[in-house]
Amino acid sequence: MTEMSRFLAGQIFSRFMRKNIQHLKQCKIRTFTTAPSTNLKDVLEKKIPEKQKEVIEFRKQHGNTKIGEVTVDQYVYEDSMNLIAKLPTIAAIIYRNLYRDGTSVGAIDPDKDWTWNFTSMLGFEDPAFTELMRLYLTIHSDHEGGNVSAHTTHLVGSALSDPYLAFAGGMNGLAGPLHGLANQEVLVWLTKLQQQLGGEVSDDQLREFIWNTLKSGQVVPGYGHAVLRKTDPRYTCQREFALKHLPDDPLFKLVSQLYKVVPDTLMQHGKAKNPWPNVDAHSGVLLQYYNLKEMNYYTVLFGVSRALGCMASLIWSRALGLPLERPKSFDIKHLKKLAGAA
Ligand SMILES: CC(C)(COP(=O)(O)OP(=O)(O)OC[C@H]1O[C@@H](n2cnc3c(N)ncnc32)[C@H](O)[C@@H]1OP(=O)(O)O)[C@@H](O)C(=O)NCCC(=O)NCCS
Repeated sequence: MTEMSRFLAGQIFSRFMRKNIQHLKQCKIRTFTTAPSTNLKDVLEKKIPEKQKEVIEFRKQHGNTKIGEVTVDQYVYEDSMNLIAKLPTIAAIIYRNLYRDGTSVGAIDPDKDWTWNFTSMLGFEDPAFTELMRLYLTIHSDHEGGNVSAHTTHLVGSALSDPYLAFAGGMNGLAGPLHGLANQEVLVWLTKLQQQLGGEVSDDQLREFIWNTLKSGQVVPGYGHAVLRKTDPRYTCQREFALKHLPDDPLFKLVSQLYKVVPDTLMQHGKAKNPWPNVDAHSGVLLQYYNLKEMNYYTVLFGVSRALGCMASLIWSRALGLPLERPKSFDIKHLKKLAGAA
């Protein structure tokens, strides 16, 4: 990062924090005044017509304003801040409706941080879980922009779609098993392993299980990466957290044992360019330990975090006036020329 981009990032971040707090305060007022029932269906019934009006208005203005000036300052920035501020509330309402008794998520406490409010809305009180989620929400926010969810958000946004539409596109990408769903795949794989092999397993038994996975044409979930060529630092910091808070947890011990065995096996297999674990190899185990056991919800947590990275990038893309993104396309003549040169 150059000095200039560091300075600009600092400016955006401090503006983001100020705005975020304002939005959180607004959320508190709205909880009491406009939505006495927090049941998602009731809330949407009232909100959707209001939002539709806003969107129609937005689109009219959008078409009439200069992109570089007005879109960035008044719409993309504001929409992104709103999205980040409200996403935890929406995610928590979904969680409570699906997995708890559907009761209210309660009011936002503007004196507490984003994560504290999120875990409290989910209904968790253990401070250690909140600390884990601070780590989780930070490390899943985004790392280089080329992954499916961040890239899709950028792609959809590059057509000047609003941040909500762009982020929804990104979330559809996150749901794939090679991407955001991988942490769930890891748990399913670990459960199968435990069912087949029982509690204490030897390294040789693990090797055999891994080979069976590979021979059946499946990937070892939680290992490999499109860009990284070493252990994912996001894996390492979760491992450090686990070593501190749950060193004797049986599932964590299994994950640690796999860390010793999988990379060598993948190297022998000879396909994966990176045999080391990624972020998803660890996160599910930690969430299970703190009783967030509903695996289907894990990608939602990932999405709440990813909004931070995706929205920051979208704001930058508009601020820098980046063009519509499109892959190169070639006619047959050009393809023949390329094939001939190879
Ligand atoms: C992340 C991932 C999708 C990256 O894919 P990629 O960029 O194509 O990775 P590579 O270039 O190393 O792939 C080369 C080959 O190794 C294979 N490979 C990569 N990771 C592998 C793994 N964990 N287990 C088995 N095979 C693997 C690929 O499937 C590919 O096989 P192919 O040539 O038959 O198509 C891949 O490593 C993977 O599927 N990992 C497991 C899922 C996962 O953990 N996803 C979360 C990522 S953060």
